Amino acid sequence: MTFQKQILEGIPNKLPEKKAIPKNANRAPKRKDILSIEEKKLAIRNALRYFPEEWHTELALEFSEELRDYGRIYMYRFKPDYEMYAHPIDSYPAKIKPAAAIMLMIQNNLDPAVAQHPEELITYGGNGSVFQNWGQYLLTMQYLATMTGDQTLHMYSGHPMGLFPSSKDAPRVIITNGMMVPNYSQPDDLERFNALGVTQYGQMTAGSYMYIGPQGIVHGTTITLMNAFRKILKENESSKGKIFLTSGLGGMSGAQPKAGNIAGCITVCAEVNPKAAIKRYEQGWADLLIDNMEELVNKVISLKENDAITSIAYIGNIVDVWEKFYDENIFVHVGSDQTSLHNPWSGGYYPVGLSFEASNDLLKDDPELFKEKVRESLRRQTNAINKHSERGTYFFDYGNAFLLEASRAGADIMAKNKIDFRYPSYVQDILGPMCFDYGFGPFRWVCTSGKTEDLDKTDAIALKVLKNIQATAPKEIELQMSDNIIWIQDAKKNNLVVGSQARILYADAEGRIKIATAFNKAIESGEITAPVVIGRDHHDVSGTDSPYRESFKGFKKYSGNCSERN
Ligand SMILES: NC(=O)c1ccc[n+]([C@@H]2O[C@H](COP(=O)([O-])OP(=O)(O)OC[C@H]3O[C@@H](n4cnc5c(N)ncnc54)[C@H](O)[C@@H]3O)[C@@H](O)[C@H]2O)c1
Repeated sequence: MTFQKQILEGIPNKLPEKKAIPKNANRAPKRKDILSIEEKKLAIRNALRYFPEEWHTELALEFSEELRDYGRIYMYRFKPDYEMYAHPIDSYPAKIKPAAAIMLMIQNNLDPAVAQHPEELITYGGNGSVFQNWGQYLLTMQYLATMTGDQTLHMYSGHPMGLFPSSKDAPRVIITNGMMVPNYSQPDDLERFNALGVTQYGQMTAGSYMYIGPQGIVHGTTITLMNAFRKILKENESSKGKIFLTSGLGGMSGAQPKAGNIAGCITVCAEVNPKAAIKRYEQGWADLLIDNMEELVNKVISLKENDAITSIAYIGNIVDVWEKFYDENIFVHVGSDQTSLHNPWSGGYYPVGLSFEASNDLLKDDPELFKEKVRESLRRQTNAINKHSERGTYFFDYGNAFLLEASRAGADIMAKNKIDFRYPSYVQDILGPMCFDYGFGPFRWVCTSGKTEDLDKTDAIALKVLKNIQATAPKEIELQMSDNIIWIQDAKKNNLVVGSQARILYADAEGRIKIATAFNKAIESGEITAPVVIGRDHHDVSGTDSPYRESFKGFKKYSGNCSERN
């Protein structure tokens, strides 16, 4: 059956065969066994509601096994056989173009080249889900394929509530994710409700279908890094041969080596999961792959001597690197961390001293001991960073809740006043004063034809618009304008596309409006061959409201009541 027919069928008429999971799949870690027996029965009943009764006996057993083995019911059997990627818009079986465009965005979020754990419908961030299970995926795609221009699809944490009558000017899809009642909004509550199948953490762009691969964050990371170096280097001093040490080569963190190359430094990025590190290396997002500490040290010393611009994916734990570089007297100019510390207890952060496999086993077999190891590791990491910082390293939190979790772990991370942290967040120190204060934020677009030529045309249009704006722009935004012009000029050369033909470009309101208007004209004239999806992400002026990212003051006051789930 063609993929169009399969989409139109929704839940198949015949129970599909059970299927094996691809051998090389990067699987999500087993989630905590958090439900009581009664709750497990409820989770299975919740899952069965998508299917005809005659399948219930067989599926109930299978879903209970999934719950036991993975801590969640993913409905692996219902994952479609067709290739999952952003197809050109015209190949989707839809009545209206906006619905086809949304289908394209969904399939991009689940593309194995793009998604972190595609089998478990997770795009990035360890738990950023597009849907909770494959049943929801099938139903949503069917709804989108059949909807008309005066209907609205309402999504509730991956669960399609149905098509509702609306007007042609109403949104075609309205999405909520991670809805929690404040009194039941601690991390374990989310785990429990997620295991029950009634909520999901959609991250910023997974459950809202606006993920564009690691490129989405490259621009923001590049700006952050360039400005971090501007803060510490003397005028006319170059970032060549200077070290940026960080961690994580996952969904978003995978952007760091590329951003480091564009910012012109040596990036050392530690990643404990070999699969994640190899994937980024093979995709060309890191220049070198090293799995041996001595080799790493020697390489970094020689790169420094040669004033190099290079990125290294190091397979290992970040804590070991901070400690070793200190012992070896390797000066780190800029440091950060991008492990998934918004999710410290379920595989977001791997403790030092344990291999990746041993950590996953411990997480499954003894979650309390795993927690203790994470805390211990955070204390060690902080101590090492503090020692580097005494030598002059500029360390900043990149919105992954590193400072928050380190403080909760009892690490020596608070400032003298015991209210602030020792280190700033990047929003506080860099992106806020440089970009958000002037209205610059992440403007994104996707060429739905899937053609590189269309993306090239949009780049050229955006460049022209920015140059026109620059001609009369006020002095205060001169630097931002010229950084953005260089970014879009070099975007193709930097080979940023993974998945859909997408681009990100920080822009203010004037830039967005003028670029979008120019795209419309180009589509109308046929210069661009298909519609362009326009979006943004959370990382925008007033787009995010996280007490541990945007405002670090009053930490004590809010500690324990707020979670990093914006
Ligand atoms: N600044 C922002 O706007 C922004 C943007 C994106 C993500 N984030 C945050 O950054 C974090 C990372 O996001 P992601 O999408 O890359 O998550 P991810 O889970 O896909 O990647 C994190 C990676 O860190 C690795 N890791 C964990 N512990 C490690 C350790 N001790 N040493 C070395 N590697 C380790 C994991 O194996 C994983 O591959 C999240 O907390 C996310 O919320 C912030």
